[in-house]
Amino acid sequence: MKKVFYITTPLYYVNDIPHIGHAYTTVLSDVIARYHRAFGEEVFFLTGTDEHGEKIASSARESGSSPIKHCNKYVLKFKALWKKLNIEYDDFIRTTEERHELVVKEILKKLYEKGDIYKSTYTGWYCTPCERFWTNKDLIEGRCPSCNKTVYKIKESNYFFKMSRYQERLLKHIKENPGFIKPEFRKNEITEFLKKPLNDLCISRPKSRLSWGIPLPFDEDYTCYVWMDALTNYISAPGYIYNNKKFNEIWPADYHFIGKDILTTHCVYWPSWLMAIGIELPRTIFAHGWWMSGEGKMSKSKGNVIDPIIYIEKFGEDAFRYFLMREMSLGQDATFSHNIFVNRINSELVNDYGNLVSRTVKMIKDFSGGKIPCEHTNQKTNQLRKEVIKVPRIVKELVKEMRLNEAIEEVMSLVRRTNRFIEETAPWKLNKENKKKELEGVLYAVSEALRFVSILLHPIIPNKSTIALKNFNIDIKKRGSFNSLDWGGLTSGTEINPQEMLFPRIKTHLDGRIDFGELSRAAIRPYSVVKVSFDDFKKLDIKIAEIKEVINIKGANKLLKLKIVIGKEERQIVAGIGAYYSPRELIGKKIVVLTNLEPRIVKGELSEGMLLAATEGDKIVLLTPDKDISSGSIIS
Ligand code: MSP
Repeated sequence: MKKVFYITTPLYYVNDIPHIGHAYTTVLSDVIARYHRAFGEEVFFLTGTDEHGEKIASSARESGSSPIKHCNKYVLKFKALWKKLNIEYDDFIRTTEERHELVVKEILKKLYEKGDIYKSTYTGWYCTPCERFWTNKDLIEGRCPSCNKTVYKIKESNYFFKMSRYQERLLKHIKENPGFIKPEFRKNEITEFLKKPLNDLCISRPKSRLSWGIPLPFDEDYTCYVWMDALTNYISAPGYIYNNKKFNEIWPADYHFIGKDILTTHCVYWPSWLMAIGIELPRTIFAHGWWMSGEGKMSKSKGNVIDPIIYIEKFGEDAFRYFLMREMSLGQDATFSHNIFVNRINSELVNDYGNLVSRTVKMIKDFSGGKIPCEHTNQKTNQLRKEVIKVPRIVKELVKEMRLNEAIEEVMSLVRRTNRFIEETAPWKLNKENKKKELEGVLYAVSEALRFVSILLHPIIPNKSTIALKNFNIDIKKRGSFNSLDWGGLTSGTEINPQEMLFPRIKTHLDGRIDFGELSRAAIRPYSVVKVSFDDFKKLDIKIAEIKEVINIKGANKLLKLKIVIGKEERQIVAGIGAYYSPRELIGKKIVVLTNLEPRIVKGELSEGMLLAATEGDKIVLLTPDKDISSGSIIS
């Protein structure tokens, strides 16, 4: 069986609204996921949110909210941004979900029983924003070496993970697997770090100091260190422990994409943790650089944090995605500035690609009666063909080596080459001179080049490339794979279907300033932006089910386990209706169930679907069919 290609983003802290750094890793992962899907691979792309720990608890306190209410609100801001950025993730995990907590607890139990976790007293300097302890010698001028904030001396009993036990094995693994940490200079950084003696890792916080976390299963007075909790998402989401079949198809991760600041947690803590559990290590941990704003680091206090929403609303998600991928090279920092953004978009997407699309469509309209012309070859068209057909292989290799900006450059140079080809062959002249055959040959070659380019750019600019291909009546969903990139894919005689202009020129003031108008941070509207299209609604499989059996769940008096029948199929769902319905009232009732909801574990019980009910304040009322109808009937 072929392994699923598995990639992850870090889990984002829900203590603030998302910024360009979050957007970058998520777009990067989405682009890589889309490329691998286009290569014909099955992909599992995971993202999510990191919701426990002091950082979140104190943000919630500041906003006068409970931690979970705070998380519920902020998670929507991330999801809204991913929707706006056209991110197609396969799963979104929140560390407050039951399926995740269950796995974290199982692992803690296992490592405690194995002797890899022990209790001891510890004195150290604690940094709240970084959620970690530092030793005296780590501090720089008495402050946190990572974020430069004030640290506090703390002495307390805690639980420790015997990380030092895995140090040698980890070093050996890094040496024997050159692709494990990328880029190379980050690998060297970690190798140097691992040459010094490694301390064991404090993996608990006393509940009295921090209650917002997962309780240790062997000592309820402590919660789990937020990093060990969060890192575990990479195995809990694909089903480790509760769905081992799925887990074995997906794990190990092919790429964990992270920023350079979270290198140690991912390249030291995480692999040691996995070795202790006895699970294969991820194939590659890839650390990208940081986006800088103007002269330096972005920070709220400097007021130079880039808000992605402003750019997306003003220039469209594709321009923003393109810029992020084009501007940052392998592992290096990059600078975001209005001017660089505008110049890049105006020169590459407006002048080069957008122009190629509109002039090709116009020429077919004017010189070929709005139909794809016949292919006639000559030396010039053969030359262009040769240059076009080699690009998919080059792009594929560059993407596999994570040299994305070079892959884009390769495609854009083909765009420029095709524009030059148009200038050189001058179809308008051929038309005037009535050289019909030659004119058709040129237009056919240009159209094919444009088809190649649009498919190759699709993972970067999914929306605009889809529109570009619609000009030729090509459905990217059916013909977007790299396998369809054979010359001659366009059928002569088919009518074209002219679309709107792809990228309008970004107008600037004389001094280069852009007018951002009314757009502001308030542009993130968590509820209103999450609109469901009719196509999305059609994905829901809602059916009538009949309740056959009702079982109370121990320790959760509101939850009931329902055995239901949907047509011929039997299933189990868990529903929070125990306070409103007695088992006797429920048996035999026909209810409405969303059947294709991802299965979840609720209080240790599998729930395969969700019943639909109306709520009003405290009241819950089940939806039932108005007249009798068989179980399994479809609701549409
Ligand atoms: N919650 C942890 C990750 C846990 S993963 C199991 C975390 N969250 S974060 O929200 O603070 O950061 C998430 C990612 O954003 C990190 O990879 C970080 O490097 C990245 N960025 C934060 N600011 C950034 C830039 N200015 N530029 C690029 N990425 C940056 O850390």
